[in-house]
Amino acid sequence: MKARTVIVLAAALTLASGGALAAGDAAAGKTKAQACAGCHGADGNSTNAQYPRLAGQHAEYLMSALHQYKSGERSNGVMKAMAAGLSDQDIENLAAWFSSQTCK
Ligand code: HEC
Repeated sequence: MKARTVIVLAAALTLASGGALAAGDAAAGKTKAQACAGCHGADGNSTNAQYPRLAGQHAEYLMSALHQYKSGERSNGVMKAMAAGLSDQDIENLAAWFSSQTCK
């Protein structure tokens, strides 16, 4: 199979899955999420209305929010600082972790 065909197939598969499956590693995300626990809760169930609940949120939504904070497209001083140090892989892992939790 030519490389180009592989790329097209991969893109088609990504579209076909609707992006519903998080590629991240939830266990790694759980470890990383210790930095988020103070505000969002260890499992994403924040007990303070000031901080949004992340538990059970769609992985795509969480990833896009974190990328937007990082780029400054979504403006929030606290979250910009939090997202600044996250790699794309960290973001996928965090999204996998929080999206796999149950919103209480
Ligand atoms: C010091 C408190 C604090 C910490 C620590 C923190 N956050 Fe946040 N987070 C906030 C606040 C406040 C908001 C709401 C900002 C806004 O209005 O956009 C927010 C919003 C978010 C959102 C958007 C939620 C939504 O419903 O749109 C995501 C995703 C998020 N945080 C992820 C994280 C992750 C992942 C970490 C750890 C790496 C983290 N946060 C650490 C305070 C914090």
